[in-house]
Amino acid sequence: MIGRLNHVAIAVPDLEAAAAQYRDTLGATVRPPQDEPDHGVTVVFIELPNTKIELLTPLGDASPIAGFLAKNPAGGIHHICYEVEDILAARDRLQASGARVLGSGEPKIGAHGKPVLFLHPKDFNGTLIELEQI
Ligand code: CO
Repeated sequence: MIGRLNHVAIAVPDLEAAAAQYRDTLGATVRPPQDEPDHGVTVVFIELPNTKIELLTPLGDASPIAGFLAKNPAGGIHHICYEVEDILAARDRLQASGARVLGSGEPKIGAHGKPVLFLHPKDFNGTLIELEQI
């Protein structure tokens, strides 16, 4: 059911410093920051030949990653995103198997303009999983 790895998301306390490190030290292609108010984050995408890295920092007071950064002040891997062809079919199959979908269970539009869902990390080896319909 899952396809390619779409991105790995890393929460960072200083987005500008992290983006500069990927650009200047690691020599990667770094896109400009995008505010995602619906998700409470500002993101910078790093484009690699085979996948993307998504640097995340909190946007607004109720950011869902504020707690993560409080526990991990230096930053850390926040989630991984797998591609699916049909997000509603994927959700129904996961829920039928007992996996928990976060939020209302209805897909939201993610940072790439495509529908996304998140799965409870306790159901997947301590890893927050994002599914994105491609
Ligand atoms: Co993501």
